[in-house]
Amino acid sequence: MSNALVPQEVSRRRTFAIISHPDAGKTTITEKVLLFGNALQRAGTVKGKKSGQHAKSDWMEMEKERGISVTTSVMQFPYSDCLVNLLDTPGHEDFSEDTYRTLTAVDSCLMVIDAAKGVEARTVKLMDVTRLRDTPIITFMNKLDRDTRDPIDLLDEVESVLNIKCAPITWPIGMGKEFKGVYHLLRDETTLYRTGQGHTIQEKRVIKGLDNPELDTAIGDYADELRDMLELVKGASHEFNLEEFIAGELTPVFFGTAMGNFGVDHMLDGLVDWAPSPQGRETDQGKVEAKDEKFSGFVFKIQANMDPKHRDRIAFCRIVSGKYQKGMKMHQSRIGKDVRISDALTFLAGDRELLEEAYAGDIIGLHNHGSIQIGDTFTAGDKFRFAGIPNFAPELFKRIRLRDPLKQKQLLKGLIQLSEEGAVQVFRPLQNNDLIVGAVGVLQFDVVVARLKGEYNVDAMYEHINVATARWIYGKDERKVDEFQRKAEANLALDGGDNLTYIAPTMVNLSLAQERYPDIEFHQTREH
Ligand code: G4P
Repeated sequence: MSNALVPQEVSRRRTFAIISHPDAGKTTITEKVLLFGNALQRAGTVKGKKSGQHAKSDWMEMEKERGISVTTSVMQFPYSDCLVNLLDTPGHEDFSEDTYRTLTAVDSCLMVIDAAKGVEARTVKLMDVTRLRDTPIITFMNKLDRDTRDPIDLLDEVESVLNIKCAPITWPIGMGKEFKGVYHLLRDETTLYRTGQGHTIQEKRVIKGLDNPELDTAIGDYADELRDMLELVKGASHEFNLEEFIAGELTPVFFGTAMGNFGVDHMLDGLVDWAPSPQGRETDQGKVEAKDEKFSGFVFKIQANMDPKHRDRIAFCRIVSGKYQKGMKMHQSRIGKDVRISDALTFLAGDRELLEEAYAGDIIGLHNHGSIQIGDTFTAGDKFRFAGIPNFAPELFKRIRLRDPLKQKQLLKGLIQLSEEGAVQVFRPLQNNDLIVGAVGVLQFDVVVARLKGEYNVDAMYEHINVATARWIYGKDERKVDEFQRKAEANLALDGGDNLTYIAPTMVNLSLAQERYPDIEFHQTREH
């Protein structure tokens, strides 16, 4: 099996995800990106949109939704000389810990902002997660075909709220009905906007040079306004700098409209030119480089399959190094076993397909009958394990209770397994027999009850519980941790993996505890 092509194949890959607040335009921009990748004949077919009511829908319905999203979970398409992997980050009601974990499996992110609204809450949260790995961020200011906020204000807001420098690469001319196009600061050219072309790849009208009189003919008074504005913009904003971008300190900013399919190609050009090719990862035995010839990868997400009759699930594995080839033997480090994988899935153009080979940066889907957990490492025989696929402190909590009290054991077993799989987190207080379920998104609660019923034959329900947040407890001094455990026992619990966790009824309570116990570390994430 020749691996000679590994360095070359890895260099041309770009693996990214989109972070945005619901409704900013993630779905729309995904469609347009796929259109450029020739993965869709016409935009508009990515997924059944707005699963708005599904938080309360039945399990089959959810399976269907989730089944659909399996096929759109990873999309691979060619663009320019590159092969691009776009990982879907569940949003809206299906927002969950998977959304966060997906961000640990990419090498860069596209941040989509609704230019009428600016930086919104979900984006702030997701940016926090990208900071764990200093992921490079590209920004797209969307919906310029509407009346938006002042572009300079938008950049200021990104800089101050998200604490990242902005380097505008394109600059908008007009907005809403008067949206004329964008000027590309690095190429010194203006691309003119035409309405009603959103479903196609438009033939672009480009005017070279800012002083070109053609520009005045095309956009009238806007030409002089643009010239003046650019003086200001150049003085007030940052210049693009590749190193700072790679370090996650500076974001190139593009303007456009996803619906009008305008400006999306500028952004994609930036992605293939500047975003890093697949990056290596730390393991417990040192760093693995993407271009190493030997295969390795880690599991960042497990998704229930469409057919509830089969307990089959798909484990999403990000290849970190080398090459996967159909039929190869893989070593699953956590359980120390070798498995032969002949039926990994790939996600070409939104369809699931059986895969012959894949390279570092690609995602493969492994059939999982229950033996794979989030964070698992697969190698070509080596024993190392990757670090850094974290659990995130849940933000929503409920007490879970049985309708039939005799099934306590099954309930606990089911919950622990679901938490190992990453579907939800479970906490058992030290002082009572409560079972607390913690999630990042509301749909996770429904999924857990439905799966407990379907897979463990346990009828469970939720009750309100007064918990605001959870933190994992660490301390260098064991004596201090023991003392803390005695004194704060009423607020302590064990999670699904028996790790000590502080359960805070309010954020104020958490701050007080942190002040009172300065030798104790309260962590928002826990690595597998
Ligand atoms: P999301 O995945 O981030 O939640 O956003 P999505 O793409 O679904 O877009 C949310 C809404 O914003 C949609 O309208 C979409 O059409 C609209 N939108 C996206 N990009 C643009 C843009 O560049 N300009 C304008 N004017 N609108 C945009 P909707 O009414 O909720 O749905 P639909 O019926 O139009 O699909």
